[in-house]
Amino acid sequence: MAEDFIPFEGTKTEQYEYVLAQIEALCMAESNAIANMANICAVLREQFPWFWIGFYLVDTAANNLVLGPFQGPLACTRIPFGKGVCGTAWKRNETVVVPDVTQFEGHIACSSLSQSEIVVPLRRNGAVWAILDIDSEHLNTFDETDTQYLGRIADMII
Ligand code: SME
Repeated sequence: MAEDFIPFEGTKTEQYEYVLAQIEALCMAESNAIANMANICAVLREQFPWFWIGFYLVDTAANNLVLGPFQGPLACTRIPFGKGVCGTAWKRNETVVVPDVTQFEGHIACSSLSQSEIVVPLRRNGAVWAILDIDSEHLNTFDETDTQYLGRIADMII
């Protein structure tokens, strides 16, 4: 039986350390990636004031990303390879931080409320098989701390 989650007050690093312990425990207890993605969205949603948190899964046959588990408002279901911030992170096989979405050419606006964004790849044998996408209603929300911790979280999903 899962324990209730109580949000932690502190610096961004302290908040990440707190959720990391929870997420580590979740991922060790369950091997199903989709189940873990769903709970990771929930844990992040409880702790951080972000607008949208979710995963997209690589659909190799269609050469696009298809919407996976998420928390937040309705979102685009498919994103082509190389398109938008998500498709770009997939193509580059690296984390993409966008401080202001209006300055990112090709940004796909699932909601006009989103102002900044981070997209982190999930890899299997070095190849991207999914991405974690987080949107904020504020500018400049994500930095190197988010890149490091969300990268660690992404690596826990295998
Ligand atoms: N903004 C993303 C699309 C996904 S939504 O933000 C949920 C992009 O440009 O790829």
